[in-house]
Amino acid sequence: MARDSSTISQADLASAYARWAPVYDLFFTATMRPGRKAAAAAINALANGGQPIQVLDVGVGTGLELPMFEPHVQITGIDLSEPMLDLARKRVARAGLANVKALRAMDAMALDFQDAHFDAVIAPFVLTVVPDAHRTLDEMARVVKPGGEIVLVNHIGAESGAMATLERWLSHRAAALGWRPEFSWSIVADWLARHPGITLVERRKLPPLDLFTLIRLRRENGATSA
Ligand SMILES: C[S@@+](CC[C@H](N)C(=O)[O-])C[C@H]1O[C@@H](n2cnc3c(N)ncnc32)[C@H](O)[C@@H]1O
Repeated sequence: MARDSSTISQADLASAYARWAPVYDLFFTATMRPGRKAAAAAINALANGGQPIQVLDVGVGTGLELPMFEPHVQITGIDLSEPMLDLARKRVARAGLANVKALRAMDAMALDFQDAHFDAVIAPFVLTVVPDAHRTLDEMARVVKPGGEIVLVNHIGAESGAMATLERWLSHRAAALGWRPEFSWSIVADWLARHPGITLVERRKLPPLDLFTLIRLRRENGATSA
């Protein structure tokens, strides 16, 4: 049976990001910097009075966001792609980022951490990439402590107009690109509707050209992740 080219498998991702790794920073540093900065600022603001906090960076990639965290933000980064992680490790060594505690190969949809392990989770430009956004959100909600935040940045697809047409067309190249150009807000909204213990704290458009959206979710105190 012919495969739907708008779906992405783990194998597609492994080969797409092995191809992207050597040129990733060249293409994706500048345009996505405001998104990374906004997400890192949201995390830095959680560290009340400079208290150390434990943060999981899901889909850390080449680690472009890592130098944006304040020293008391202790980061564990995970990614599926070893070539991307190798570049992140080199960046950490080069910049002497002592607050980056570990960089591990791991699937965002099956996190190897205990429940309620982290004070916050950050995932810039990842939800539109993973094969199953809902399973990834489930895992993030499981490992974050009650009272903790999940901070996301994504391109949310246009609802209509020329951009929506372009995104629909590009979506047929999702497996080769390594992300879904067409990603509707309803994917997040549907998940939130099924998780009453998780609250939408902020949804804000970001430069350039409102292309990306910062999304902050909070696991309420006393809420179970399921
Ligand atoms: C667009 S990059 C974003 C990287 C980084 N956060 C940034 O801001 O540049 C998406 C990353 O998600 C990783 N990824 C994709 N699927 C994954 C999965 N199931 N588990 C863990 N990482 C995954 C890719 O390997 C890639 O490094």
